[in-house]
Amino acid sequence: MSVELTWFGHSAVLVQGAQHAVLVDPFITDNPAATVDPGDITCTHVALTHGHEDHFGDAIEIAKANDAPLIGAYEITNFVSSQGHEKVEPGNPGGKIELGDGNWVAFTQAFHSSSYHGQYMGMPCGLVIQIDGKRIYHLGDTGIFSDMALLGEIYQPDVALIPIGDRFTMGPELASRAADMIGATVSVPIHYGTWPPIEVDPEHFQSTRSRVQILQPGESMTVG
Ligand code: NI
Ligand code: MN
Repeated sequence: MSVELTWFGHSAVLVQGAQHAVLVDPFITDNPAATVDPGDITCTHVALTHGHEDHFGDAIEIAKANDAPLIGAYEITNFVSSQGHEKVEPGNPGGKIELGDGNWVAFTQAFHSSSYHGQYMGMPCGLVIQIDGKRIYHLGDTGIFSDMALLGEIYQPDVALIPIGDRFTMGPELASRAADMIGATVSVPIHYGTWPPIEVDPEHFQSTRSRVQILQPGESMTVG
């Protein structure tokens, strides 16, 4: 079975392999771009890059409904436990969490902030997900940093999910530089077009080292 990646709009992504399906940043209910019902999403794990409302979204409800461990920064998983979902996997940048069958989720740094309704949620992160030998680097919300080149070298991602919406993250020009530094086989723009302040033209996202693939909300692609 191939690894399938589905983008639900904004930063919400499902990575699906033979045994594991990791749902990242499931902002669905309040996401104007989403075309799916949160109750229709099946996954084995939920993972959060950081605590902001446009990423946290339906995380607790979906984790509970799927009896899925929630992966996130230590402060996020503490909060999630306090909300009645005790199946959590805390981590922090540099570390990784084994899912079994050789699959894992690793935390990278991101230059951003992280809170949920005013409560501190620890370090914002990017996530590298390995499923069935394929690697997906979800950058989370971040500005550009030169260690993206190092992360690309270390993780050799098949797909990089790169925020391009500007204002809260990189815009298309910096995101293009990021895509070049990471050098994933395919780079997919995310975190844009959801609302007017982050409306940008994804055609301005280009890379000399990576094939850019623009998805529509709800669209899937095969990884590798
Ligand atoms: Ni954010
Ligand atoms: Mn965001």
